[in-house]
Amino acid sequence: MKIGPVRVAHAVALASMEEHTNYCFRRLMKQFGASLVRSERVDAVDVARRDRRALRLLHTAPDESPRAGQISGAEPAVMAEAARVVEQLGFDIVDLNFECPIRRLLGRGEGGALMADPPAIGRIVAAVVRAVSVPVSIKIRTGPDGEHVTAVDIARAAEQEGAAAVELHARSVAQAYAGGPEWTTVARLKQAVSVPVIGSGGIREASDAARFLRQTGADGVAIGRGCLGNPWIFRQARAIIAGGAAVRPPTAAERGRALLQLVEGEFHLYGPPLALRRLPRTSCYFAKFLPGFAEFRTNVRHVGSLQQFRRLVREHFRTS
Ligand SMILES: Cc1cc2nc3c(=O)[nH]c(=O)nc-3n(C[C@H](O)[C@H](O)[C@H](O)COP(=O)(O)O)c2cc1C
Repeated sequence: MKIGPVRVAHAVALASMEEHTNYCFRRLMKQFGASLVRSERVDAVDVARRDRRALRLLHTAPDESPRAGQISGAEPAVMAEAARVVEQLGFDIVDLNFECPIRRLLGRGEGGALMADPPAIGRIVAAVVRAVSVPVSIKIRTGPDGEHVTAVDIARAAEQEGAAAVELHARSVAQAYAGGPEWTTVARLKQAVSVPVIGSGGIREASDAARFLRQTGADGVAIGRGCLGNPWIFRQARAIIAGGAAVRPPTAAERGRALLQLVEGEFHLYGPPLALRRLPRTSCYFAKFLPGFAEFRTNVRHVGSLQQFRRLVREHFRTS
């Protein structure tokens, strides 16, 4: 698949997830076989004024290419300025979020609120495409709710204004993250536009990704919650799609090593106080696959340093 001039090696991509898909997470997923990776959504207003926290959320490096940086907002000029910053930071693609169901954003007429307003999305895309030289993609839902399916109209409007790819999360904004997903809308969208279509929603196991591509005809599939604590899903999905031999599941020690790599990266990126606050949630996604999870969950809350965490990982994951 090619997004503008950007070559994406294969169909299995990482979905954008707030609080998760930072640089360390994306690099790990890439190492385990994700093709295109995306940052989490960051407010365009903050990016445009180069707010420190916003820029930290958009930390990137060439070793995770190709990668997209994602922004949300409703004001074309602000989105255009934020897109310039995303390009300057080194992202290969600027991704525009018109899908977020968070009430705070909907109240401001941003994110998923724009799914009810295809012309407004067209205006934003046009302004951003003019502002940057990298390709621009959009991330949308099926529509504001089950009764109003706007995805096809929006994708067509965005394509006309120069968008180079569309990712469709196959749920409505009203559904947030539960119920569905509606893969048939992805199939319809694929028929309606000529730019690459990536879909997401409901990929829990590697075999779901292969089934999704077969049923929808989409160019790519993005894995969201299915990869939390389980980066191996990318390799497994690629093997199934290629019709090759099944990839063996990871050993406990391999799980521990992957987790430690992620956490060490976060200590480096964020510094100890923030990395420690994030630790219980990040590590429980990995630890839940092994026996003794309840004890791990209790113990990880008392970890006060990277050294203590390494010890806990050695015990729980039996790494040497
Ligand atoms: C915790 C969480 C945070 C998310 N944050 C974002 C985000 O910042 N930007 C975005 O485009 N999509 C976001 N999504 C949606 C995912 O990219 C993806 O479309 C969706 O999770 C796919 O559904 P699945 O998790 O059922 O596979 C988020 C999803 C979850 C679960």
